[in-house]
Amino acid sequence: MKLAVYPGSFDPLTNGHVDLIERGCRIFDRVLVAVLINSEKAPLFSVEERIAMVRAIFRREPKVRVKAFSGLLVDFLRAEKATVLVRGLRVVSDFEYEFQMALMNRHLDPDVETLFLTPKEELSYLSSRLVKEVHRLGGDVSGLVPPLVRRALGRKVRANGKG
Ligand code: PNS
Repeated sequence: MKLAVYPGSFDPLTNGHVDLIERGCRIFDRVLVAVLINSEKAPLFSVEERIAMVRAIFRREPKVRVKAFSGLLVDFLRAEKATVLVRGLRVVSDFEYEFQMALMNRHLDPDVETLFLTPKEELSYLSSRLVKEVHRLGGDVSGLVPPLVRRALGRKVRANGKG
């Protein structure tokens, strides 16, 4: 069985992430979405909320599994008996950070291979950070995130007065 781990913060999941997971499903038998428990980053959505959103969106895709992780990504991969890591490359500015991470992960575990996939070009400017900012400032994020995520963003704004 070909298994790929797709790690990230997913705070929140955007249509770019959805596109990437769908691409992963065309190549692999199973895509394990690994949601980072951000201890330093203070995410908008709790890890439970982020996991629930990914699960809900891919409830009809049996290839997709979702789990939380903390600590080193290579340790998580080893525990899951996975050797392939999928990351999205949107624009050139992603490259340096992604290249560093891929080489660091290879240094930590030479068995780990990072595979870069590119989302649809109309999603290439999209990031969770910008989605949160646009939404917080009253901009329309429909078309950028799944409807379920848009509704969850709305609930956060109403509950916390932030977005
Ligand atoms: O969506 P993001 O925030 O760009 O994802 C970053 C992520 C989760 C892939 C990265 O921060 C990560 O792998 N964190 C785990 C810690 C780790 O293994 N660091 C060393 C390898 S670079």
